[in-house]
This record gives sequence, C-alpha cells and structure tokens, in this order.
Amino acid sequence: MKVNMRLNGRQIEAEAEDNELLLDFIRDRLGVKSVKAACWRGECGTCMAIVNGKAMKTCLMLAVEADGADIITAEGLGGQGGLSPLQRIFVKHGAMQCGFCTPAFVVNVHYLLTENPEASDEEIKEKLSGMICRCGTYNQMLPAIREAKRLYLKRKK
Ligand code: FES
Ligand code: FES
Repeated sequence: MKVNMRLNGRQIEAEAEDNELLLDFIRDRLGVKSVKAACWRGECGTCMAIVNGKAMKTCLMLAVEADGADIITAEGLGGQGGLSPLQRIFVKHGAMQCGFCTPAFVVNVHYLLTENPEASDEEIKEKLSGMICRCGTYNQMLPAIREAKRLYLKRKK
C-alpha cells in the first residue's frame, strides 16, 4: 500500500508492506537513521519519533497506520541540518557516550518539555522510564534537561 506522510517537514510517498513497522519504514525505506532498532517490542525506546504531536515508539506501529501522519525525528528538530538548541544542550552536558540512544532521548525530551516545560525531576524520570541508555548517561541527561526547561518555558510565554 502507498503511504503518504510528512516527515521532518517534507511530504513523502512510498510503498509499504501491510505488516511493515513504522520503524523499518522510516529507517530502512526512507533512510532516516536516527530512528534506531534495538528491541522491536517497545522496551528500549530507541525508535522514538513524534507522530502527530505525540512521542511514539515506532516499533509499536505499522507504517500503514501512519498514513497521513506528521512525523518528526531527531533530524527534524534543528532545521536546515543544524543542531537544535536542545541537542546543543545535550552536547554541552556530555549527556551521551556511544550516542546510540541519544536521538530518541532528545526527541522524547523535546516532546516532554513542549508539553510541560515545568516538569519536575520526578515527572522527567517517569516520562523517560520507558527508555534505556545502555551507557547509563542518565545522570548527565538530567542536568541537561533542567537547563533545557528554561528554554522551553521562554518559548511557551
Ligand atoms: S526498538 Fe522500539 S522500543 Fe525498542
Ligand atoms: S549513550 Fe550509549 S546507549 Fe545511551
């Protein structure tokens, strides 16, 4: 079936198998590589993207279910190929090691702070609890997210 979607601001149309995961469609068919596959069953969060305004694990959706959707991945946060302010804050705090999970965390934090720029540490931990960083950079991520909160708060005003 043909699937149409807006991906990082670009309208695309591509063929998808009926049982093709949105994860595989974005990553393998469309070549958007920040969306990573690690567990394929909703446990690690490395496949996170924003689908119609909500952070979603793309291994839990079929590509055909995303027909007509507006999807943003880490590549789409910065615009014009540059890093977004949130991505720069992650770099500044060294909130990554191997970087495998980082695009997904950045996408989820962007969603979280857009929704609630005043999220408490507890709320942040709870929202990110469905994601795994095998390098264990959680202690670097939290200060980065605290700094980013000020940015998102300013945007909301
Ligand atoms: S690959 Fe989707 S949650 Fe792990
Ligand atoms: S930075 Fe390596 S898995 Fe998170």
